[in-house]
Order: sequence, then structure tokens, then C-alpha cells
Amino acid sequence: MKLKRLLSGIKPTGELHIGHYIGAIKRFIEMQKDYESFVFVADLHSLTVNPNPKEIRENTRKIVELYIACGLDPKHTILFNQSENIYHTALSWALTCHSYMGELSRMTQYKDKSDGQKNESINCGLFNYPVLMAADILIYDTDVVPVGDDQKQHVELTRTLAERFNNRYGKTFKVPKPVIAKKGARIMDLQTPTKKMSKSDENKKGVINLLEDLEVARKKIMSAVTDSESIIKYDEKNKPGISNLMTIYACLTNKEIKEIEEDFKDSSYKDFKEKVADEVVILLKDIQKKYNEIKTDYIDNILNEGLIKVKEISKNKVLEVYKKLGLGRY
Ligand code: TYM
Repeated sequence: MKLKRLLSGIKPTGELHIGHYIGAIKRFIEMQKDYESFVFVADLHSLTVNPNPKEIRENTRKIVELYIACGLDPKHTILFNQSENIYHTALSWALTCHSYMGELSRMTQYKDKSDGQKNESINCGLFNYPVLMAADILIYDTDVVPVGDDQKQHVELTRTLAERFNNRYGKTFKVPKPVIAKKGARIMDLQTPTKKMSKSDENKKGVINLLEDLEVARKKIMSAVTDSESIIKYDEKNKPGISNLMTIYACLTNKEIKEIEEDFKDSSYKDFKEKVADEVVILLKDIQKKYNEIKTDYIDNILNEGLIKVKEISKNKVLEVYKKLGLGRY
């Protein structure tokens, strides 16, 4: 039986944190054996926010190393770097010319990120970003796209663009589905638990990076902001801090929230935080051990192999699209 295709990626801006792990990487790992998996580093997307060449280059390699250290297995997952496969941008232009200014300007992430910047200085890539993301997905006839909930709207736009193109030119693209976890799709900042944990955050006390010093990570959990009620009960609205810690704990131990409420019904916040910190430290320790053992050549070989496979598939899709659009002499 032919496996369905999974695709997802992460931008190489800033450090990867436990939100990326829980909301995205952990899902890729759980799903990789049941799908034909494609996971990449979205380096072209990082140009929209922080065009710092040295940082992009270093972070791109680091992300691939972390993918592997976290448990992505090149036997099951094709790993590659987005910009090395030139066909993504070739499809992106064709899709740009089928996207509307109105729909792109309604994207929440665009509105958030452009907010505070004067219109004059907003990079056009930030506006067009979801179209490139749609190209990343549609170029491989992807079935499922596991992402955190901030990316759901972009996958929905991808579906709209695929349907629009198919209606105009005949069936060309598979219409993909976003896969969003029931828990862990939005890990919150430890200091401001009403806000998503984010790599661009100024207050580093609220974010735990995957390569964080273990003692620092423990302290960050212990000093996470909670309420004064001291009852371990899941209530996102009224108790966002403790609910976030419960989500992290639930995802790392594969326990249900109800079970956690029951297990910790007589515990203090301090005791519970210690248990959460233990789980986070176990995770980071394991990832960091594997990360430190990875050799550069190994990464290059994996990326080279991945690139050969993805180029072949995506070239055919771009030619099909160009032909339908009357472009070139195909
Ligand atoms: P990026 O790099 O911002 O985030 C990568 C993935 O991590 C998830 N994530 C989180 N999940 C839970 N809690 C958090 N605090 C948290 N922070 C981040 C994101 O939802 C995402 O799944 N545009 C994408 C990259 C991309 C892509 C694609 C993804 C480019 N092309 C095609 C899927 C398919 C991005 O910037 O994600």
C-alpha cells in the first residue's frame, strides 16, 4: 500500500525551544513510520524576518542536527534544505499570481509581525510568506501537514490556493490537511502564559531552548508564573500558567490531563513544578547527548541524499504547472 505523504518545516531564526519540540518535531517523529515523510529547514522563510546570513547558515545546520538528535530517522524521513531545491520558488511565483492581496493581508501572522513596523519598511516577503509555504506543501502532493496552531491558517490558505488552481486548470494539486495536536499545539511562554512561547521573545526566562543548560532549564520551570490558588487544575482561561505546565507535562509523559489532575490533587505547585522540570531535563539531556555526537559529514550526506529525491518530485510538479499555465515550451 502506498503511504500518504507528510511534510513540514521550521524556520532557522533563533534557537529551537520546547514549543517547537512539542508542537511540531515530536509529532513528526511519532508519525514518520506511518507516512512518507518530508521535513525541511525553511531557510527562505527566514529572510522575511531576519536576513542575517551568518545566523541563517549556522541555524540551518543546527536545526538539521536537532531534527536528528530529537529522533527523526533519515530511513523514514527525507530531510532537506528548502533553498537548495530551487523548484519551491518556481512554484511560489505561479501561486503568487493566483493569490489575492485581500486574503494575504488577513493572515494573522502577517498582521502581528507587521504591526509596529511602518508600512514603508515591511519586507514584501513577510506578506507573501504563506504563498511560499503553500508552494512547499503543494509541490510534493502532500496529504498531511503537522504544525502548531499558529500555522493552521497558512495551511488553510494552501487548501484554498490548491482548490482555486484545480478549478481553473484541472486537477493538479492534492488538497492537504493540517494536523494539529489536541494538546501541545500552542505551548505558552513561562513568564507570560497568555502568549505563545516564541524564539523572537525578548524575555528569555519564559522560553526553554532545546540546547539550554539543564540547570537553567530547571530554574525556568521552577520560576514559571502561576496563579495564587495552588490547585492543580486545567483551566486555560483562569489558570493559564499551571495549565501550560500541565500541557508540557502531559505531552512529555504521554499522560492525560485528567490523570494529572488526579495524580497531583494533593500536591503543591512547587512539587508539581519539580516533576515537570524533571521531565524537561530528561528530554533535554537526551537530545543534547545525541546532538553532541553528530558529525558534520553525516549531516551533509543526509542533506545531499534528501535533495536528490525532492528535486526529482518537485521538478515534475513545476513542469506540470508551467505547462498548464502556458509557460515555456513544454
Ligand atoms: P516556525 O519556524 O515558526 O515554527 C515551526 C513549527 O513549530 C510550531 N511552533 C509551536 N508549537 C507549539 N507551541 C509553540 N510555542 C510553538 N512555536 C512554534 C509551529 O506551529 C510550526 O509548526 N512557516 C513555518 C515554516 C514552514 C512550513 C512550511 C511548515 C515553511 N513552509 C510548510 C509546514 C509546511 C514557520 O515559520 O514555522
